[in-house]
Amino acid sequence: MTGRESSFDPVRMADLDRIMELVRAVAWPHRREDIAQFIRLGGGRIARDEKGGRALATGLWWTFDDTLARIGLVIVAPEAQGRGIGRRLVETLLEDVSPRPIVLLATEAGLPLYEKLGFAAFDRSVQYQGTYTGDPIQDPRISRVAAGAIEEIAEIDAAAFGALRGDMLRDLAETGSVAVLTENGQISGYAMARAFGRGTVIGPLVAATEDDALALFRTLARPGFVRIDCPADASTLIEYLQTAGLEDVGASPVMVRGGWTPPSGPARIFGLASHALG
Ligand SMILES: CC(C)(COP(=O)(O)OP(=O)(O)OC[C@H]1O[C@@H](n2cnc3c(N)ncnc32)[C@H](O)[C@@H]1OP(=O)(O)O)[C@@H](O)C(=O)NCCC(=O)NCCS
Repeated sequence: MTGRESSFDPVRMADLDRIMELVRAVAWPHRREDIAQFIRLGGGRIARDEKGGRALATGLWWTFDDTLARIGLVIVAPEAQGRGIGRRLVETLLEDVSPRPIVLLATEAGLPLYEKLGFAAFDRSVQYQGTYTGDPIQDPRISRVAAGAIEEIAEIDAAAFGALRGDMLRDLAETGSVAVLTENGQISGYAMARAFGRGTVIGPLVAATEDDALALFRTLARPGFVRIDCPADASTLIEYLQTAGLEDVGASPVMVRGGWTPPSGPARIFGLASHALG
């Protein structure tokens, strides 16, 4: 790679196959459709080898007005790791989304790099997945809504996420199903289920209490491979997940860089759309 400016090109949909090669090289579970969704919802960078063929590294970002950005899908090809490419890639992503504060989930491999670049952990997310054996429930407070009704949930989502992300929610809803929890005429939570990775992911899942989060989860989850990324302190939800066939496959620090105060509730994110999207 030569100069920094020419090294990392903006990601385009035409890079999908090259990015999939990187995803497979680090054994991440994303399908082609998942990566296509990530690309169409945001931007990012890609570095190619000198002949312009294979991708050496990629990283994506998503911005939410001027309020917030997320960074994710940061991958350096295994044979190119440890040569400073990861650091320069993330520095380029930071410039792309500047001056917004940035939130991300770090892997064990990424943690030292993000700490060096000024990110600090403020929460911990734990990934549960496996063959779900629970039965669906019917809660009179919970109803299904069409993908077109996203405006109704964008506000409660923003209260938990910390920024409005209507376009992202609409896109996610179009690839899955949505349930809304209404109490006293007010929407106080919602959840989505969609195909992602090895099966179905339940997320985003936003609720005011863990009991409500559990009710939304049980409304949408169906027997088969299910994944949810939930807060490590969500003990009621986690206890249920364990009895219903899901296993803890690892925790990740949620990190922030820049002046940003995470929302303090009562609405809280109990399930992520994905590590990358939040
Ligand atoms: C994480 C990853 C992107 C880093 O890319 P890389 O090109 O190998 O990273 P770099 O060579 O630029 O090293 C980054 C910094 O982290 C440091 N570092 C790396 N591993 C470290 C460790 N175990 N302990 C302490 N520091 C470490 C390096 O010394 C370097 O610091 P420096 O710039 O001050 O010298 C790469 O390992 C990767 O793709 N891993 C698999 C996918 C993944 O986990 N991605 C992260 C998603 S959050």
